[in-house]
Order: sequence, then C-alpha cells, then structure tokens
Amino acid sequence: MEIRFESAPVENVSGDAIAVICFENEKHAETTAVEPSTTPDPEIAKQSGWLAELRASGEFTGKLYEQVTFHRPEGTGAKRLVVIGGGKREKFSPVEARRIAGVLVRTLQPKCVKSIALLLPAESGAEIGAAAAEGAVLGGWDPDKYKSDPKRNSKALETFIVAAPGSAQITDTVINRARIIAEAQNLARDLVNEPANKLSPAALADAAREVAADHSLECEILDQAAMEKLGMGALLGVARGSSNAPFLIVLKYHPAKTFGSDHLALVGKGVTFDTGGVSIKPADGMEKMKYDMAGAGATLGAMKAIAQLKPSVQVTGYIPTVENMVSGTAQRPGDIVTTLAGKTVEVLNTDAEGRLILADAITYAKQNGATHIVDAATLTGAIAIALGHYNMGAFTNNQEFLDKFLGVSKTAGEKAWQLPMDEEYKEYLKSAFADLPNIGGRYGGSITAAWFLREFADPSPWVHLDIASTAWLDDGRAWLSKGPSGVAVRSFVQLALDWDGSRG
Ligand code: BES
Ligand code: MN
Ligand code: ZN
Repeated sequence: MEIRFESAPVENVSGDAIAVICFENEKHAETTAVEPSTTPDPEIAKQSGWLAELRASGEFTGKLYEQVTFHRPEGTGAKRLVVIGGGKREKFSPVEARRIAGVLVRTLQPKCVKSIALLLPAESGAEIGAAAAEGAVLGGWDPDKYKSDPKRNSKALETFIVAAPGSAQITDTVINRARIIAEAQNLARDLVNEPANKLSPAALADAAREVAADHSLECEILDQAAMEKLGMGALLGVARGSSNAPFLIVLKYHPAKTFGSDHLALVGKGVTFDTGGVSIKPADGMEKMKYDMAGAGATLGAMKAIAQLKPSVQVTGYIPTVENMVSGTAQRPGDIVTTLAGKTVEVLNTDAEGRLILADAITYAKQNGATHIVDAATLTGAIAIALGHYNMGAFTNNQEFLDKFLGVSKTAGEKAWQLPMDEEYKEYLKSAFADLPNIGGRYGGSITAAWFLREFADPSPWVHLDIASTAWLDDGRAWLSKGPSGVAVRSFVQLALDWDGSRG
C-alpha cells in the first residue's frame, strides 16, 4: 500500500473514497452554508444538509467509528463520501486518529476500495497525521498468509491518502516516518504470525540477516559453538531439548553522529516455540506458544525502522533465540546451569525459560558496551492476571530511565504500566543449591521474573517489558486484526528517536 500526504483542496482529491470525521453532538446547517468549525473543508460542508438530515434520523450520531457512505457525492472527485464518527471532539487524540484510519481500511478494503483519502479535522497537528498514517498501515495487515485466498493479496488497498489541506505541520516527512514505523510493526507481526515449523531460530536469524542487508545494519550471529565458548550456560540449557540449533542474533546500528557515549541495547525474547520443556504445558492453547518470540519480533522490527530513521544514538538489538522442547536431551528440573555472568541457576521449572535466555543476552549486551538496556519478553502468564490485555508490564532498576521510557511510549501510543520491584520481592528467589532459582513462589510471578532479570542487568539502567498479555490479540478490534499486535516496536523506535532529548 502506498501512503501519501495531500495538502491540496479536497475538491481535487479523486479516488474510490474520501472519508471525513464528524463528531458527536454537533449541529450542521440545513442548507449549504459553510461551517468550517464543524467539517474540515467547505466543499465537504456542502454535504452538511444531508448530515443534518442523517443525524435527525438517528442513523448517525457521530459516535466513534460509526459509518455512513454516500455515493457520488458533490464537491469532490471521489466516488464515495464516507462519514465516520469521531466521538467527542474534545477527546479526539492521535489514539482515535490511528483507530479511525484502521477502521476505514478494514471496512473498505474488503469492498475492493483501492484508494481512500482521510480528511483530517482542520488544525490537526503532526501527531494526528502520523497516527492516521500508522493506523492505515496497521489496519491493512491480516494474519491469513497461509490461506489459499488471503485477503491482503486479493483485495489490497493501493493508496491511502492523509489529507490535511493547508496544514503546515503535517508533511511528507511526518507521513513517511509514520509509514516506516508502522511497516516495522507489521514486520514484527509477520514474524510472530509464522508457525514454529516455518520460523525456527535459524529462520529468525535469516530474517535478521535480510533486514541487516536491506538497511545497512551490521549483523553478527553467534551459533552454538560460539555461545559454548563464551559460557552461555543458561541459554544453551534451554536449547538442549530441541534439534533446532539456538542462536544469539546481534544487529548493530551505528549513527553517523552521536551526541554522547550512550549505547542503547534492545533485547527481545526469541523462543520460537515454548512447550514448557519437561515441565510441560497443558495441551489446551499450546499452539499459541509460537508467539513466544514476540519480543524478538519487536526488536527486529524496531531495528529495521531505526536503520531507516537514523537516530543519533548507538543502538544494538540482541535476540537470543531457541526452541523450548522436550526430548531425551532436554534439561531437567533441578539441573544447575552456569550463566555467562558466572552466577549459577537452579532450573526448578523448565517452563521459566525466557528469563534464562535473557539473562545471558543481557550480560552479553553489557559486555559489549551497552549503557542502557530495554528488554521485551512474553515472560509470564501472571502479567495477564495483574494487568489484563491493555497494558504491558514495565519494570526497572532506575526510575529516571523508566520515566523517560513511559514518556516515549505514551508519545508512541502504546500503554505500559509500572509494577513494583521492592527488595522484599527478591526474598521469593531463594535456592538451596545455586545462586538463584529460576522461579519464585506462587505470588507476584511477573515481579519475581523481573527480579531474576535484574540480577543480571544491575547496575546498568534497565527497563523490562512483560508483553505476554499484549503481544497477541485473541479478539480482533475494528481497527486491528486478531493475532500478533506488534507491541513494543513503536516505543522502542520512539525511545531511540527521542534519545538526545531524553538524556536531558
Ligand atoms: N512464554 C511463557 C509465558 C506466557 C504465558 C506467555 C502465557 C504468553 C502466554 C513463559 O515462558 C512461561 O511459561 N512462564 C511461566 C513461568 C512459571 C513457570 C514460573 C508461566 O507464566 O506460567
Ligand atoms: Mn515457558
Ligand atoms: Zn516462554
């Protein structure tokens, strides 16, 4: 899908559909009177007699995402005028703009509409324009790649135009940047959507090589022998059960110019399938565990966007990738492994494998110069109990760094909620036989998992995102398909883009 910005007057916009946002509880003139505060363009306002009629009929109130289509409207070169509800005008924000664009794509694309122009409310800022562009790209994605008749190939929308006549803030650059970020998020979704028989750790490494080659990133892939030599016993212990070899993927972005010596590491959990290992998971729902590499997808997607948007901070992506399987060579409960950091871990539950591979990846990032670390991982089922499906869990050893992160994730339109990491919780992580066990007790499961990681991240400023309940949507939304969400990509990219500002 091509995405464009259009600043020309609306009467010049042609195509299959022009969409205009109308808000709740707003009066429209009965006549053809021009009402610029109600509708963003005088030409569209000519339809307002119809709108008033429509509202009076009760068929359209302006509620969010409500839609009515007029065919062959006057005053534009488009075939359809789609009136879409914007909700309360005072509540309209980039969040609604992103969703409205997604809703339009998802309702019009199946009707074989090839081009949509979304006319934004007058005086919309750059954030609204960018969000609309993102929403369109994200809305166009579907997880039906392996269906014989996939929607996205047969009925693909060709053009989405963000129309903001006379806007000084919304520019080609703004729209292009939004497109790059949303396409990176869709790459993450594509990877997460791959079943484990198609996406092994080796295939994920190939995907990383491809991104690196296309966008001039340096790429280094540690294989099993290299990791054995380094002593990554925790990562290798998890990999033992699978005949698919593990890798540690490293993608490096070097800026032309930096404003300091900071070096940001993005670390993503890349378990291409999680059976639980010998501490095996129940059969019911296990198929979903192909998404246990969503953190890896987010990291790879973010690195792709970062390579194109070129922030002025050094960023390296680390993706430990393994398959957590059951076999005669699999690691057992009670096994003790030695991590790259030198600490020993008693593997009390082989299903708590994410933290084991991340421990070695985080240590490796520190050994390779990372000054700040952010990881994203589908780490615990418990995060869904704590926060439901709307916020990622956020944890830190450095409040200032997390505050910066929460600021950028808000800008990026992703929700994260901090959970506590008081020293008391560390008491849950006691092993009689090794330095650490890999699980805590029954309570605070997401927090003990975070504490386990922290034992390896300290003292570097570090943020951990538990995305187990946000990386996969069980139900589609009107603006987003069900399946992989691509969460954390936008926050990762925004963190790198806002870096010099964020260092204060
Ligand atoms: N990948 C899972 C976490 C998960 C659960 C992600 C449900 C998405 C949905 C992780 O490896 C895991 O199995 N965690 C265990 C930890 C437990 C053994 C302490 C869990 O959450 O049950
Ligand atoms: Mn597991
Ligand atoms: Zn897992």
